[in-house]
Amino acid sequence: MNAARARWAAGIGGLVLGVAGAAVGGPGVPNLERGRALYENHCVVCHTPKVHSRASRIPLNVEELRQIVRTWAKGEDLHWTEQEITDVVWYLNETKYRF
Ligand code: HEC
Repeated sequence: MNAARARWAAGIGGLVLGVAGAAVGGPGVPNLERGRALYENHCVVCHTPKVHSRASRIPLNVEELRQIVRTWAKGEDLHWTEQEITDVVWYLNETKYRF
């Protein structure tokens, strides 16, 4: 369990560096407002405000959050681009998870 956690932590470190690098400019820059709009338009319909902050919340890191967002977007037949998934992950992480 601890070893697994450490591996995840290392993974997040890489991911955060990647995102920070992307924030300098160019394609791949996460857009918080776009993420918010996408999420509010397509996702809040059946979420209670608590779904992302309950003790038993599912994702443990950004990578897992991304998988869940991807799965939901697919399930809702939204055909989001990687950029749109990134925007929503960014929005959720900035406003709710803070991994
Ligand atoms: C049909 C209703 C519904 C829609 C639409 C929906 N969700 Fe969910 N979502 C749920 C339910 C119910 C859960 C709790 C699942 C559980 O506890 O196993 C959940 C859980 C989640 C979680 C994990 C929450 C946590 O911290 O444990 C994420 C992330 C999430 N949804 C993202 C999305 C995104 C992004 C969209 C839009 C693309 C979306 N959902 C659309 C019903 C929905």
